[in-house]
Amino acid sequence: MSRDLDQQAIDVLRQNDRGGFTVPTARLYPYQWNWDSAFVALGFATFDSDRAWRELELLLEGQWANGMVPHILFRRNDPDYFPGPSVWQTPSHADGGGLFPSGGISQPPVLASIVHWLVQQDGNIQRAARLFDKVMRWHRWYHTDRVPNGHSVVATVHPWETGRDNCPDWEIGLSAMEIDPDIGVYERKDTDHVDPTMRPSKEQYDKYVTMIKFGRDHDWDQTIITNDGPFVMADPGIHFILLRADRDLLALAKRLDRADAYSEIENWIELGVAASDTFWNDDVGAFTAYDIRSGKRSDGFSNASALCFFADAGSEYQRGRTLENMRRIQSKVRFMMPSWDPDAPMFEPQRYWCGPVWPQMNHIIAKGLNEHGEHQLAETMRMDFAVLVEQSGFYECFNPLTGDGCIGAHFSWTAALWLAWASPRNNAVAA
Ligand code: GLC
Repeated sequence: MSRDLDQQAIDVLRQNDRGGFTVPTARLYPYQWNWDSAFVALGFATFDSDRAWRELELLLEGQWANGMVPHILFRRNDPDYFPGPSVWQTPSHADGGGLFPSGGISQPPVLASIVHWLVQQDGNIQRAARLFDKVMRWHRWYHTDRVPNGHSVVATVHPWETGRDNCPDWEIGLSAMEIDPDIGVYERKDTDHVDPTMRPSKEQYDKYVTMIKFGRDHDWDQTIITNDGPFVMADPGIHFILLRADRDLLALAKRLDRADAYSEIENWIELGVAASDTFWNDDVGAFTAYDIRSGKRSDGFSNASALCFFADAGSEYQRGRTLENMRRIQSKVRFMMPSWDPDAPMFEPQRYWCGPVWPQMNHIIAKGLNEHGEHQLAETMRMDFAVLVEQSGFYECFNPLTGDGCIGAHFSWTAALWLAWASPRNNAVAA
């Protein structure tokens, strides 16, 4: 059974391979996505190390002159996806964009961590050395262009930048903004491919498109977007992933003897550790998102709240309360870890980031828990993910109450994390 699933996972990755880069799943997401590619590399690394590095090299081909690595790379146009390159209208290469059209925002910077883990596995320091400066420039972009004036925390300017697209966290920023009356008529494609009750609403989409229009109207000047854009929130997901990635980048710099980079990265880590407290919400007992301009805080526990372990952030008290929340949530669901608190308003077990379990989040949350001695909970998260795949297949995400697969099938990061993490073969390798 599991041997079959290993082979099926390899087949999913091969089928989604478009010649050196992987699409998350055919039709619904027909391009290369940023953090998807990073996780996908972990899967390829289990059977084709060269192909794993290639995935990351191709992702970095999309890097802009300012250092940003966009969330989607539109290598070739696909009319089946909205919003495509003609909506984003990002700068050409000559004007500071990447080698081909892309989205105008970024995504959670898990890449440095993945590069570090790949080197630990296969020792390929030459491939890592070729990527190092590019990853440094991306982190520098996050720590400068994405920090609003007068603040010390990295912002997010679009829910899609967080990778947690329609999480209820973003309602605070969305309700503070207006829909631009000039966004025009547009046709969504996502709801042609999957059940609309699993996808974001029409009003949310109008606001997403308004944010894109703002970027386009300002020639994708990232400092204007970060300071004056319609949506400026702080996401514990991006914050903790970046802090962990800074730590892994420092370890990588040491491995590569890049002493010239040490002090700059150390400074980012110091700032990241200090900024962690700004996310603390003592009423909830968790690190939660907030609106940088109004200071209004989200009062729901999301799976991003649980990433404090991964970042090695927070005090013992803060981590203890986070764990209490996780145990309470565990008693409410069949499968850990739902993306939104089942006791909070707006929990919907099959609507995307309002409840479903996400494989890549489970993986990094569990990694952090293991590093903090919480082995039992970490193992629950791994086993729950394994059962979800065995029961339902390689879905994008899963209903935490029933285990049903949600949204896209034959999904790359699910296949990759099965291979790299959940497959029983990993126990055999470790034994
Ligand atoms: C959705 C997810 C995002 C992911 C993308 C491609 O937009 O919310 O995290 O990167 O799909 O899989």
